[in-house]
Amino acid sequence: MSEANIIDGKAIAEKFRNKIADDVRQLKNIHNLTPGLAVVLVGSDPASEVYVNNKQKMTTAAGMKSFEHKLPGDTTQKELLTLIDGLNTDPNIHGILVQLPLPEQINANIILAEVDAKKDVDGFHVLNVGKLFVGAPSLVPCTPLGCLTLIKTELGNNLSGKKAVILGRSNIVGKPMAALLLEENCTVTIVHSKTSNMQDECRQADILVVAVGKPNFVKKNWVKEGAVVIDVGINRTNDKTEGKGKLVGDVDYEGVKSVAASITPVPGGVGPMTIACLLQNTVTAACLQNDIELPIQQ
Ligand code: GUN
Repeated sequence: MSEANIIDGKAIAEKFRNKIADDVRQLKNIHNLTPGLAVVLVGSDPASEVYVNNKQKMTTAAGMKSFEHKLPGDTTQKELLTLIDGLNTDPNIHGILVQLPLPEQINANIILAEVDAKKDVDGFHVLNVGKLFVGAPSLVPCTPLGCLTLIKTELGNNLSGKKAVILGRSNIVGKPMAALLLEENCTVTIVHSKTSNMQDECRQADILVVAVGKPNFVKKNWVKEGAVVIDVGINRTNDKTEGKGKLVGDVDYEGVKSVAASITPVPGGVGPMTIACLLQNTVTAACLQNDIELPIQQ
């Protein structure tokens, strides 16, 4: 069998961002509205700082306003709640993202519940999670939304009857990914650390989404010939030959690409799509708050 098609998330995300920038121009011209995104970072986790800086750059590049709140690592829960209350009532801010993980003195569930559900561009508020699970999605978590877009570029819009296996059951990726694929009429299995026959389950998959945070975890013999493999992992190895250590996914890319029909690379696969979906959610949130219907029409 020939080698897998490499899914170019970077190029797909760039196209998507250009379309979003068009929508932002339309919103300005027709409705005199510029979407604004507030990003809140507590502490100085280096990986989180890189993500937050990227989000900010891309927000501005798409023509939206970016508001950054970098708080010290010893910020109290009460202080963070007060900041969020202020962002909730600020009319210039349409989207609020609180970067996770938060320091241990702060209960993330309490913080996420405080964000106005209409400004919840992460889709983590229980109201938005509930809407997704009852088949009435509003603001949907960015990483699974980006994964679904990539899957559809490979398989088309009709995923009905496909067997989808998701490795990982996090609130950020695994669970919302399952809800989205179920909504597409896939047969969905979530595999996790307590699953007894993990490899057998994975081998059944037409669509395999991997989000476990373990470098090169999924091997070639776990993957069915012709599967679409989406690798959400971003892990830094100890191999310092390239300076900081190489970035690798959760999938053994070199091995798996000889059996899969298509596969996302790391970096340049899912990562850029997550940010593009965040921008899309910010536009959606701005429209929701201003009773503007999507798609925006002249
Ligand atoms: N940390 C890792 N992924 C995410 C994400 O998608 N959103 C937020 N807020 N924090 C994260």
